[in-house]
Amino acid sequence: MAERLLRLADVAKPGRLRDPTRTVFAMCGIVGYAGPKSAVDLVVEGLRRLEYRGYDSAGVSVVADGELSVAKRAGKLVNLEKELAETPLPVSGLAIGHTRWATHGGPTDVNAHPHRSSNGRVAVVHNGIIENFAVLRAELAEAGITPVSATDTEIAAQLLGLEVAKGGDLTGALRTVCNRLEGAFTLVAVDCEQPDTVVAARRNSPLVVGLGDGENFLASDVAAFIGHTREAVELGQDQIVTITATTFEVETFTGEPATVRPYHVSWDLSAAEKGGFDWFMRKEIYEQPKAVADTLLGRQDESGALRLDELRIAPEELRAVDKIVVIACGTSFYAGMVAKYAIEHWTRVPCEVELASEFRYRDPIVGPTTLVVTISQSGETADTLMAIRHAREQKARVLAICNTNGSTIPRESDAVIYTHAGPEIGVASTKGFLTQLVACYLLALYLAQVRGTKFGDEIALLIEELEKIPAAIERQLADMDGVLQLASDFAESPSVLFLGRHVGYPVALEGALKLKELAYIHAEGFAAGELKHGPIALIEDQLPVFVVMPPPGRDLVHEKVISNIAEIRARGARTIVLAEEDDLDAVRHADVVIALPKVPTLLQPLVAIVPLQVFACELATRKGHDVDQPRNLAKSVTVE
Ligand code: G6P
Repeated sequence: MAERLLRLADVAKPGRLRDPTRTVFAMCGIVGYAGPKSAVDLVVEGLRRLEYRGYDSAGVSVVADGELSVAKRAGKLVNLEKELAETPLPVSGLAIGHTRWATHGGPTDVNAHPHRSSNGRVAVVHNGIIENFAVLRAELAEAGITPVSATDTEIAAQLLGLEVAKGGDLTGALRTVCNRLEGAFTLVAVDCEQPDTVVAARRNSPLVVGLGDGENFLASDVAAFIGHTREAVELGQDQIVTITATTFEVETFTGEPATVRPYHVSWDLSAAEKGGFDWFMRKEIYEQPKAVADTLLGRQDESGALRLDELRIAPEELRAVDKIVVIACGTSFYAGMVAKYAIEHWTRVPCEVELASEFRYRDPIVGPTTLVVTISQSGETADTLMAIRHAREQKARVLAICNTNGSTIPRESDAVIYTHAGPEIGVASTKGFLTQLVACYLLALYLAQVRGTKFGDEIALLIEELEKIPAAIERQLADMDGVLQLASDFAESPSVLFLGRHVGYPVALEGALKLKELAYIHAEGFAAGELKHGPIALIEDQLPVFVVMPPPGRDLVHEKVISNIAEIRARGARTIVLAEEDDLDAVRHADVVIALPKVPTLLQPLVAIVPLQVFACELATRKGHDVDQPRNLAKSVTVE
């Protein structure tokens, strides 16, 4: 009880949770370096590439001449860079750095990482949350140590300081500390008495090692060191890595040597840079034709049959599946909604789609014949990860659709289909979404092939249609003037609605999400069939309403949506209709038409979302917002 009370008191402090049952977000980017070059420069360069993970404050620490030095500043990385230009840190080949994303309380210089132990021995950066920090802080108080910040990280730093002072090495000390911590964390630490070594530990938060030539890196994401090496090692759960300039060693939290999986990163520095675009997001929108093509590459054998190499679940098991549950968050969840239409239509297996954050808290019915499909661009989303663990405890087979090699979600799944979008740096997902859709279609077709619910030639025809998509998107992107004009016309609109039906419904939801994320205006997506059950009350004069039109001839759905358009216009709103290029009905009824390439109905989301992405990006740009780093958001939500 005492512990519980203490926790409640602690979480009420600024910078902490006020409600302990509420989700804590702590994304953050972490970099460590050991090598012959200027470690500060390399770490700051790495932080620049990780800034998408958090941008509330940043800091760096070096070990030089047996001493620790720290520089840290609230605000974006540029504030830290200014500070470093004015007061440079000592030259050193060993540094750690951090870029932070906090929840409550203003992010301050004091709360920025790295945090130092009071005895001056160690500095620590941290991604995650240490759930039992209040108990540990009380223990430190008894030892006469008063933290200077309100962070849980400093508690770890103080404990580590005490531990190294006992005389052991930094790796052993960190292992002892980690075994006392509860929650999710990646910790990276340096000790002024071990000036060649950086040590890091991970539990439930990402950490990769970059193996260079005479230099080694640690980071939350390979983007941090991709300009220096493309050789990486993923760290497993509850592992500790020790790097020097020329060595790296990995062990478990129980001190045994650990097996790790080295891999070669398939993209290079140019992919992690803007390449002449104003925003990463705009660049990523324009990369979509290639991302889709890359994700389709190498998926057929000589006979034309689908082949999903990383899918390690045997055909017999896939034939025994009697239910599919798709689990994801955010944009990935909308990709999952599209997957449901394709999976049920092509395979006739019942498919549910569920938000990862809801899944495990409602006692879901899954078992050995359930296939759980998780979709995650980053592979690190905590809610999705926890949902997988829950599903696996229920003996369900888990297949991950993921864009990040070496991330936690694919590693903890039975099977994986990697999307090949390359690095997605803009916080709002674009090419991540499109490639997830492609992977979902491939999975649905593969299941249809294995279960015999579609003939081989039918599957081959659909693959041919998928192969035409990159060129179709390319054509769309070459003619975006109309969409850019709309962004200018509607820049001052306080609200925008999006309507869709069938697979157009998730597109409407995703279009609205993009606008919320980037333009900070009220935007809602609705199923068009629901219009008269409530949303129509929102319709008023001049309100922009985007309508995703089902292709003509799709049962009666096309006509029904035409009626919706008429109902909206009759109430004075402006309809912007995304319709197939020769849909004359749509042209007759809409205020504005955005023409979409003709594609099979189920594939329409691949082309329908593109103008909505451009619209949101442009409107946010016109409003003067930071498109790549929208307020209050972070790219991967790595703690529940
Ligand atoms: C965050 C991002 C979204 C993303 C969602 C799921 O909210 O801002 O863009 O869709 O997480 O991320 P994941 O990496 O699991 O796809």
